Amino acid sequence: MDKKLAGKVAIVTGAGSGMGRATARLLHAHGAHIVATDVSGGEADTAAELAKGAAAFHADLSSETDLARLVDFAVSQFGGVDILCNVGATTSAKEVMTEAKVEDFDRIVSINMRSVFLTMKFAIPHMIARGGGSIVNVSSTAAIRAWPRMTAYSAAKAGLIAITRVAAAEFGPQGIRANVVVPGATETPMLVGQYPEDPGRLDYLRGLNPLRRLGQPSELASAIMFFASDDSSYVTGTVLPVDGGQSM
Ligand SMILES: NC(=O)c1ccc[n+]([C@@H]2O[C@H](COP(=O)([O-])OP(=O)(O)OC[C@H]3O[C@@H](n4cnc5c(N)ncnc54)[C@H](O)[C@@H]3O)[C@@H](O)[C@H]2O)c1
Repeated sequence: MDKKLAGKVAIVTGAGSGMGRATARLLHAHGAHIVATDVSGGEADTAAELAKGAAAFHADLSSETDLARLVDFAVSQFGGVDILCNVGATTSAKEVMTEAKVEDFDRIVSINMRSVFLTMKFAIPHMIARGGGSIVNVSSTAAIRAWPRMTAYSAAKAGLIAITRVAAAEFGPQGIRANVVVPGATETPMLVGQYPEDPGRLDYLRGLNPLRRLGQPSELASAIMFFASDDSSYVTGTVLPVDGGQSM
């Protein structure tokens, strides 16, 4: 394999499961050092699987302290940060807006969007010190179409698109690129475990896109890899749906 990321250091959030784990695997296969982070404990399994050039860091995305330490850890382990992949997130409680609890709204926005702001805030100075870097943030089709009962999740996923663009505009002159991947329904524990009371839901989701199937974590990882690598060297501030055509 052509090692497109040889010598690069990548932080991958949500690396204990689904797309985050697939992303850690693919970037590692391309030669990147990986800091796999999650709150589930799965980050240790991912790092153990990847072995050489990978390290686990346990962090809660809602904790500013954890995220500051995460970036410090990447720098102390591997000498810097070149790539930041914000993949980790959680789903909303499924109430309509009038029933939604304010604490849940704040928690989801903190985990799914404030974390993206914080990791960029802490990592970008290190990227600049190395002459540039690439940030890839994972949103959702919930950011660009209405999914009822997902107020907080939708707000967070739309907000992270906006702050990604701000980062792209602010730090492009210093060689930082920032892009967004928008997954459609993808076969991960988040989706498969989300509707235990509605077994027909996955068929419904398959039917929403012209390819008539769910995405696979590896297909999302490929898009993240594109943005992480120099294959996208003249691409910044973009939003790429990887959704089987669902959002067209
Ligand atoms: N699966 C889908 O259909 C789908 C669709 C659209 C967008 N997404 C997005 O794709 C990304 C990856 O999700 P996935 O489908 O691989 O789900 P997943 O549940 O397999 O992985 C998400 C990971 O995020 C971690 N996480 C959750 N809360 C955390 C916290 N407070 N601190 C640290 N880590 C935390 C979980 O432990 C988990 O390992 C997410 O941003 C998700 O919103 C998924």
